[in-house]
Amino acid sequence: MNEKKYIVTTALFYANGPLHLGHMLEMIQADIWVRSARERGYNVIFLSGDDQHGTPIMLQAEKLGQSPEQMIDAVHQDHLRDIESFHISYDCFYGTHNQETKQVVNDIYHKVTPYLTETVIEQAYDPVKQVFLPDRYIKGQCPKCGAKDQYGDNCEVCGATYTIDDLVNPYSILTGQTPEKRATPHQFFDLKPLTQVISSWQENATIAKNIQNKLTEWMDDLRPWDITRDGPYFGFEIPGRDNQYFYVWLDAPIGYLGILSHYLKGDPYTLWDDESSHIMHFIGKDIINFHGLFWPGVLNAAGHSLPNEIRTHGFLTINGQKMSKSRGTYISAAHFNQSIPTEYLRYYLASKLTNSTDDMDFSLEDFKNRVNAELIGKIINLGNRCVGILTKHFDGQLLEISIEDEIWRDSIVHAEKIRPLWLSGDYQSAMRSVIIWVNHINQYVDTHKPWAAVKIEEEKPNAHQVCSMGFNLFFRIMREIACVLPKTFEKLNLSINENQSDGMVLPAQKIENYPRLLERITDEQIESLLTENAAQR
Ligand code: 2FM
Ligand code: ZN
Repeated sequence: MNEKKYIVTTALFYANGPLHLGHMLEMIQADIWVRSARERGYNVIFLSGDDQHGTPIMLQAEKLGQSPEQMIDAVHQDHLRDIESFHISYDCFYGTHNQETKQVVNDIYHKVTPYLTETVIEQAYDPVKQVFLPDRYIKGQCPKCGAKDQYGDNCEVCGATYTIDDLVNPYSILTGQTPEKRATPHQFFDLKPLTQVISSWQENATIAKNIQNKLTEWMDDLRPWDITRDGPYFGFEIPGRDNQYFYVWLDAPIGYLGILSHYLKGDPYTLWDDESSHIMHFIGKDIINFHGLFWPGVLNAAGHSLPNEIRTHGFLTINGQKMSKSRGTYISAAHFNQSIPTEYLRYYLASKLTNSTDDMDFSLEDFKNRVNAELIGKIINLGNRCVGILTKHFDGQLLEISIEDEIWRDSIVHAEKIRPLWLSGDYQSAMRSVIIWVNHINQYVDTHKPWAAVKIEEEKPNAHQVCSMGFNLFFRIMREIACVLPKTFEKLNLSINENQSDGMVLPAQKIENYPRLLERITDEQIESLLTENAAQR
């Protein structure tokens, strides 16, 4: 019996636009883990929400002619709809712009006071727009090759790396103005005194080796972290400071606690700090510094438990390209859902996901072929053909099968091999094993040729048995992949009576109105996936 209490999160994605397939990759990865853990009786709280603060959100709302509050509310509704349509089973999907998070942020801010230092810094300021400019809002000429319109970290033309101050003729991308320098006092969170704690956490927490190595490299150069942003800014005001706000990357991870507090309707710390709690963050590899350095630092300084596990994934590419509207490779979650049932994406991603942080490609051709050949051709078709024969020749009557049969015993071995793979995160191996398993079963059915046997009177009972066994095995596979295809399994389950104590062998019953579970993907559906881009260009 696993007595742990799992607090599982996915990253709080920015609330300045729709969710796309890259976001869905992370949610699906976590959801498969959560569903499989719940199935094994684990106690899991699955949380996430929107990251609702920061300059881009403030500016995006302005562009839309809305208040930031209006925009984040509208985006939240869209995200909730997408989450539901991809069958992500959060216990709570909330946000950071709320009372609960504000309270936890203020509380943690006070607790970490001994680690705060104050320094006057100069920042770029757009005198027309009257905002301070984050680095991504400044472009200029590359100091090496002179290429125009480069960001302040590296040149896309010659590959040179440099800092924002090296840019020649810098300009604000908001107004084209030359940025001014303005000095204000900022508060910094000093990580140096926490070096030992963070290092030993990095070694002991469950984190992929390559990520651990990356984190260790960064430990040599732990600089104080600027947690202050000057107004105008959309965020929480820092108590006792004039027109200054908490940096969005301070309050975003604290949002995990705020969301927990909302879910529990009260103090989040008792559960978070409980010895039997196991805190697990699913994140993308682009934000490991925040989750592997600053977040454990802040938690420790505030006297709270550090995460037990970080699971990191790579980026999702589309047809081998970065997802982007200008490249014609952008697919939003809502658009996918309008084109193709979402469980196909869950299936495809599951068949590719491992614990590696390498990027993963969503190739439209491979997606169609794999779904049609494997999911439909091998798995769904097994159920269809067994039910087809049972309906046509045996009045839909499913017989009770014998658990002593070799093919049934073989299925127990397969199922036991697959189960731990879901929890380990190696979904690709789990899906490969499922395919080997279903191949065995299809071979079993093929060898017995029930479609021919039904025509010979003395072989009919055997055909009846084979199709009943085949259908039981199909049901069993569907149960093992219910964490990947939850709604398809639900639909199947609704038409089948599995009211039996061991829950494995189906009771004899008449199968009526067997549903079309899933259909082959058509070329038109695949073509419609990228039409969002055409509309944009
Ligand atoms: O990358 C992003 O979209 C960030 N908003 C993720 C934040 S994760 C957590 F810290 F909240
Ligand atoms: Zn250059």
